Amino acid sequence: MINIVVFVFFNGASAEFISIDCGSTSNYTDPSTGLSWSSDMDIMKHGRQVKVENPNGNSMQFRTRRDFPSDNKKYCYNLSTKERRRYLVRATFQYGSPANVDAYPKFEIYLDATQWATVTIQDGSRKYVNEMIIRAPSDSIDVCICCATTGFPFISTLELRPLNLSMYATDYEGDFFLNVAARVNFGALTKDLVRYPDDPYDRFWESDLDRRQNFLVGVAPGTARISTSKNVDIRTREYPPVKVMQTAVVGTEGELSYRLNLEGFPANARAYAYFAEIEDLAPNETRKFQLREPYIPDYSNAVVNIAENANGSYTLYEPSYMNVTLDFVLSFTFSKTNDSTEGPLLNAMEISKYQQIAAKTERQDVTALNAIRNMSAESVWANEGGDPCVPTHWEWVNCSPTPPPRITKIALSGRNLKGQIPSEINHMEELTELWLDFNSLTGPLPDMSNLINLEILHLENNKLSGSLPLYLGRLPNLQALYVEILISYLLFLDH
Ligand SMILES: *[C@@H]1O[C@H](CO)[C@@H](O)[C@H](O)[C@H]1NC(C)=O
Ligand SMILES: *[C@@H]1O[C@H](CO)[C@@H](O)[C@H](O)[C@H]1NC(C)=O
Ligand SMILES: *[C@@H]1O[C@H](CO)[C@@H](O)[C@H](O)[C@H]1NC(C)=O
Ligand SMILES: *[C@@H]1O[C@H](CO)[C@@H](O)[C@H](O)[C@H]1NC(C)=O
Ligand SMILES: *[C@@H]1O[C@H](CO)[C@@H](O)[C@H](O)[C@H]1NC(C)=O
Ligand SMILES: *[C@@H]1O[C@H](CO)[C@@H](O)[C@H](O)[C@H]1NC(C)=O
Ligand SMILES: *[C@@H]1O[C@H](CO)[C@@H](O)[C@H](O)[C@H]1NC(C)=O
Ligand SMILES: *[C@@H]1O[C@H](CO)[C@@H](O)[C@H](O)[C@H]1NC(C)=O
Repeated sequence: MINIVVFVFFNGASAEFISIDCGSTSNYTDPSTGLSWSSDMDIMKHGRQVKVENPNGNSMQFRTRRDFPSDNKKYCYNLSTKERRRYLVRATFQYGSPANVDAYPKFEIYLDATQWATVTIQDGSRKYVNEMIIRAPSDSIDVCICCATTGFPFISTLELRPLNLSMYATDYEGDFFLNVAARVNFGALTKDLVRYPDDPYDRFWESDLDRRQNFLVGVAPGTARISTSKNVDIRTREYPPVKVMQTAVVGTEGELSYRLNLEGFPANARAYAYFAEIEDLAPNETRKFQLREPYIPDYSNAVVNIAENANGSYTLYEPSYMNVTLDFVLSFTFSKTNDSTEGPLLNAMEISKYQQIAAKTERQDVTALNAIRNMSAESVWANEGGDPCVPTHWEWVNCSPTPPPRITKIALSGRNLKGQIPSEINHMEELTELWLDFNSLTGPLPDMSNLINLEILHLENNKLSGSLPLYLGRLPNLQALYVEILISYLLFLDH
């Protein structure tokens, strides 16, 4: 008998994938997934490309990484999104195992202004994965790396995967992202994770055979692994891959239990359980069970009868918990009911922490700063990425501490600024200091009468013209004003 395996790489969802291999020197297609990867050379001007020593296996994405300086700056990748569309954003980190490592890196990643995770490398050969599910707040997002406490911050890959329709919708998505804490494929056939093309949305489904500290320990005696090759109908809401639903664990002695640590918990979470009856039960056999632990009001008393709940075997039943508070150590137990002949069954589960979306710098301030950056577009200072204030502020601005941040100081003395001072500056009401001296500014001063908090204004040594506006004398807090203007009526008086 000959088995012929045919991979069909359809261009559906994957055509919209953004897959960045950080530190790579070329674009390529990975034959193991059929996905197209692009180098970050064109989009990231900072840091350096590093060849990874002793990479785990031969996955092409982990042969290089990009290292960033360990300083007080942030280094950001700007990815374009469709506003209000849902996405999975994934960043991965594999340091490699060089012979001498003084201290593995520990640093922060941010999604826009929201702290995403502290990346703590403890094992150079392990691939650390961080996933966030978002409804895009605008037409682009920034993934920023910063704030190393040991070693140099780095990144291996960055991926953006659009989701379909209402997958992963929550009641809170305007205010919270979903920070994925666990996504487990139970009864997996191998230790490999399941991803694209098995999952058209390219989520990472971790194998329950993956052995690491505090991950799926305390397994109940009598836990058996089962699988089927029959199709499973997964068309409910989250569309877990068929391959994941084709395997499961069963508590043959009546109990299924596991313990795992949830990074960033205790926290409020969105949790999903994925069930499909994949055993052919005889007419005298039943499978009924309950969630015994953790105790979740309204859910723990409900009796799960998968085939009945899903209206058929080989069909997904997907109960989920919109908002459940979970501890750092999650212990969970499913127990069969007394009148059930078979033990509980579980195919997969997913737990995500609600991550409060942190406020970005007030939009009108960003608009004004962009107009100023545009006056010296080639300068290094004008190309610091991400939010002007969070998680670390651009070197030439100061910010107010309370969210949403406002710009309080602009320090651009002698920075080769050309052209007129942009009119948008009048919307920066919290500005207290403006230093634009020793540039090549021309034209009249714009209206700045809204800048009632302005204390210090330096405009000297430019080529400004026009008259000194009267409102400057009325700005209530102005203490220091340095300005030279070619005032035409003075010239007139001279004659
Ligand atoms: C998205 O959802 C629609 C409607 O359920 C479905 O027809 C379509 O196949 C889905 N697309 C993908 C890529 O799964
Ligand atoms: C790699 O792909 C990106 C976009 O996917 C493109 O902008 C860039 O020009 C490509 N680089 C090379 C060297 O082909
Ligand atoms: C979840 O429930 C808790 C407790 O009832 C509540 O404080 C919180 O606002 C809810 N929503 C989120 C996203 O945490
Ligand atoms: C169901 O019936 C079969 C015989 O038809 C028997 O072998 C089996 O033990 C029964 N199972 C249970 C749980 O009673
Ligand atoms: C359940 O499935 C049966 C046949 O498979 C169908 O007749 C019935 O309408 C379904 N019920 C629901 C609620 O979908
Ligand atoms: C199930 O059986 C146990 C021991 O036989 C008993 O203590 C328990 O109350 C029973 N549970 C239900 C729901 O009947
Ligand atoms: C930036 O400057 C160029 C000309 O130098 C102009 O065409 C463009 O509209 C400006 N963009 C913004 C956002 O101000
Ligand atoms: C990110 O890209 C978008 C367009 O895709 C652009 O409008 C925005 O200014 C960029 N953000 C930064 C901080 O460069």
